[in-house]
Amino acid sequence: MKIGIIGSGTMGIGIAQVAATSGCEVFLYDANSAQTEKSLTNLKKILDRLVEKQKISSEKSEEIFNKIKPCTELSDFKNCDLVIEAIIENKEIKTKVFQNLEEIVSENCVISSNTSSISITSLSSELKNPERFIGIHFFNPAPLMPLVEIIPGLLTEKNLARKMYSLMESWGKTPVIAKDVPGFIVNRIARPFYGEALRIVEENIATPEQIDDAMRTLGNFKMGPFELMDLIGIDVNFAVTKTVYEDYFYDPKYKPSLLQQRMSEAKLLGRKTGKGFYDYAENAQNPAAEKNEELYQQIFMRIISMLINEAVEAKRLKIASDEDLELAMQKGVNYPQGLLAWGREIGYRKISETLQNLYEEYQEERYRQSPLLRKM
Ligand SMILES: NC(=O)c1ccc[n+]([C@@H]2O[C@H](COP(=O)([O-])OP(=O)(O)OC[C@H]3O[C@@H](n4cnc5c(N)ncnc54)[C@H](O)[C@@H]3O)[C@@H](O)[C@H]2O)c1
Repeated sequence: MKIGIIGSGTMGIGIAQVAATSGCEVFLYDANSAQTEKSLTNLKKILDRLVEKQKISSEKSEEIFNKIKPCTELSDFKNCDLVIEAIIENKEIKTKVFQNLEEIVSENCVISSNTSSISITSLSSELKNPERFIGIHFFNPAPLMPLVEIIPGLLTEKNLARKMYSLMESWGKTPVIAKDVPGFIVNRIARPFYGEALRIVEENIATPEQIDDAMRTLGNFKMGPFELMDLIGIDVNFAVTKTVYEDYFYDPKYKPSLLQQRMSEAKLLGRKTGKGFYDYAENAQNPAAEKNEELYQQIFMRIISMLINEAVEAKRLKIASDEDLELAMQKGVNYPQGLLAWGREIGYRKISETLQNLYEEYQEERYRQSPLLRKM
């Protein structure tokens, strides 16, 4: 199978590695050919390391690398069966690329976008043939994160999602099918993990270290919200929240944090700038969390209740099947268990009471419960 990948940045090269590893012939194009060279040099190092660690043979490494053909023209994609776009997150620029691509590929070629936040329906509506267009959303780093969200838009041909589902399975991925709603599954349901944590800090209830410690120790999360935001990039995380908020017509549930905006403005972006909520300088001394069992319980219940409420609302709106909702959070963001199962374990009544108390305290719509929560 011939796969075209547009954009050879973080995601494009990762997806190229996945496709080439499962035997596809990959055509890789970027408007900036220096980026393609740089990404291929990095990929070579990654493959060498896999050989050193005896994860793959040197023959396999060579085979994977040779399957990826750097292209200088989009016209090199003319025989592709599937094209995955992974360029800058900008609707106008993506649309232009798709319109050019439509003139090059055959009418049977599937065109897809790896967009994190732009509506698939709105992208497809600019194409001559929107039926062949679909969202295929990988997670970073693409070769390591199993989840792939498949997102058919309103105009996508009915059987295409299942076809792409099978293809992703054959690439060794864990696909799920999601409705074309802002944030799809993971980026929508995970919002309170960051948003509620930021709010607790803004209200001076606890420090980032305490919240991270509480979520790790009481919730078994691999990383707390602030460590994770520092890893993702505070600007990137802020941009996702802002888009979800705006695209839900300013639903107060998703209201972004002023603290996060200020940190973005100050270029305190996390690991990539050396400082975010934590300091990553070589000799930096980050304060230890001051343990407090009662406070930790309060933090954990507040954040987990918001997350479970989001999962229940996604279930109610049938954004995905229950099974896919559970899989998505475990395979896309490493949650220790699915949120619906977690709700059953803690008790939905307790989740509902926690949200009711928050609602009474703050009188804010942010804490409104999914109509389904009380019935669970
Ligand atoms: N980084 C993530 O964590 C992540 C996760 C999932 C999805 N995504 C999505 O994947 C896409 C790519 O993100 P990324 O992080 O890999 O970005 P990136 O900045 O690392 O790479 C984007 C590449 O696109 C190229 N490009 C820009 N305009 C182009 C054009 N008109 N034609 C061809 N190439 C062009 C750039 O030169 C750059 O190399 C975005 O839509 C993003 O929302 C990103």
